Amino acid sequence: MPESRGGKYRTNFMTLNFPSKPENVAFARVAVASFATQLPFTLEEIDEIKVATSEAVSNCVIHGYPEKEGIVQVEAVIDEGIFKLTIKDSGVGIADLEAAREPSYSTDPERMGLGLVFMESFMDSLEIETALGSGTTVYMTKKPSLGAGSDTDLKGHELQ
Ligand SMILES: Nc1ncnc2c1ncn2[C@@H]1O[C@H](COP(=O)(O)OP(=O)(O)O)[C@@H](O)[C@H]1O
Ligand SMILES: [Mg+2]
Repeated sequence: MPESRGGKYRTNFMTLNFPSKPENVAFARVAVASFATQLPFTLEEIDEIKVATSEAVSNCVIHGYPEKEGIVQVEAVIDEGIFKLTIKDSGVGIADLEAAREPSYSTDPERMGLGLVFMESFMDSLEIETALGSGTTVYMTKKPSLGAGSDTDLKGHELQ
């Protein structure tokens, strides 16, 4: 049988589309974390992915669609042992992206302004595309620290 791309960890993806209801933040967090366990992430790393996911999705819900409900799109990809996560809204967009990425910056005085900072520190990379009136897409990647090149999973079992 031909080797699939990605060696030990087969290339895989999943997508989710859901309305920007607050109750879907927890749903997305669990669904993304569950998919991510196909890679040999530690429990701590899975928790970091959960935080990054909820921060990104809640930004879509709260800031992306402040007035009218819209669609949040989540895509998770396993590619060459790397976890790639894209979270997109088609909402209002970010007026000042540089300021938004600063710690403690929020356009809402009630909020902490740490969501983007958490995403940046908990994931290996964070890229943001945004345009006023058309929405925001957040791209993140994370590689398992145990090394996706290993021949065994966390319990030492040979991988298929
Ligand atoms: N998806 C988004 N759509 C529109 N604005 C956003 C989005 N994500 C972030 N922002 C803007 O960036 C700011 C910083 O986001 P964040 O670091 O998560 O802090 P907080 O959510 O606590 O305000 C937000 O206050 C908001 O103005
Ligand atoms: Mg936030």
